[in-house]
Amino acid sequence: MLTQLKKQFETVFKKESENYYFSPGRINLIGEHTDYNGGNVFPSAITIGTYGLVSKREDRTFNFYSDNFPNKGVISVELTNLEFDEKDDWTNYSKGVIKFLKESGYEINHGLDVFFFGTIPNGAGLSSSASIELLMGVILRDEFNLEVEMIDLVKLGKKVENEFIGVNSGIMDQFAIGMGKKNQAMLLNTNTLDYELVSANFLDNVIVIMNTNKRRELADSKYNERRAECESALKQLQTKIDINELCELDLVTFEANKHLIDNPILIKRAKHAISENERTLIAKEALVAGDLTKFGLLLNASHKSLKEDYEVTGIELDTLVEEAQKVEGVFGARMTGAGFGGCGIALVPQNKVELFIEQVGKAYLSKIGYEADFYEAKIDDGTRQLS
Ligand code: GLA
Repeated sequence: MLTQLKKQFETVFKKESENYYFSPGRINLIGEHTDYNGGNVFPSAITIGTYGLVSKREDRTFNFYSDNFPNKGVISVELTNLEFDEKDDWTNYSKGVIKFLKESGYEINHGLDVFFFGTIPNGAGLSSSASIELLMGVILRDEFNLEVEMIDLVKLGKKVENEFIGVNSGIMDQFAIGMGKKNQAMLLNTNTLDYELVSANFLDNVIVIMNTNKRRELADSKYNERRAECESALKQLQTKIDINELCELDLVTFEANKHLIDNPILIKRAKHAISENERTLIAKEALVAGDLTKFGLLLNASHKSLKEDYEVTGIELDTLVEEAQKVEGVFGARMTGAGFGGCGIALVPQNKVELFIEQVGKAYLSKIGYEADFYEAKIDDGTRQLS
């Protein structure tokens, strides 16, 4: 892979690349739409991600090229102009990272030629944007010898997403991608940023990623809408209960106090966040105990809650997930990430994967009218320089 990319770098920039980087994508096993409600999430970094090849420049220009968008050509960004610009397209993520690092006082005083290649399918909801943010952060850290901790690059990536791009996302994606560890899942408390590594040991079973191939259009506006709904629900609960975040409540206390919320939709949204947070903690215990049956049932329950209470699934995700759940031997399945299209995951016995793909793929095609894609999830380390 790298040999091929190095050749392409030379074709585009007419010189050799000097350093090589990789930044993973992520899946979330469970704990969806809890990370902006102070809850727990349980993600892993995956081997599908973004490569970055770099060579220094003497001037103050950053030239970006993505092999995923060859028709956009080389996009040049000057260190003197790091404002968001629609026409700079995907490079805005990198621009935001440079801008915020500089604003934090780090010295970035010359340009770079940067070649990107992503193996994350476009619009799949496996967090290609956080993958690029962390990739750029680690490139800058290493190329300019910046003394910055990974956790600070994680926070900076989130800040880019929130303040530069305008998506009000939580910290899960950047955290999973920056702090990922091979063959481990991370139980992250998004309130305190305390986390625990848990061996992602599925015995003779694998996590299959199922891509609806429905682009996550509208996802950003609907995402911000859900977040605002959670904030309204929280405000109304706070009139009587002393909490800072929805996920501080357990389900029993919530049920006893939900009358404080005046709108049935907002009640459903809050119920999802609170119940999902509880499921996440139980699912982690089940995985540690090797109880995959219980773990799988929690995946199914999570999907149901995201479908009925949070309403972020849609016919494509529901079809994939519900067909996956029907396959004999499958432990469980759910959507993963923001929803509204993108991907689902299923826990499938290794020796049933082929049959699974055939059966679910066929049912999806006949109901939706186009194909789904399937990949085995392999759990990887976080963003890093390659030797
Ligand atoms: C997106 C966001 C995350 C998280 C998930 C939903 O991936 O970037 O912060 O909120 O959706 O769990």
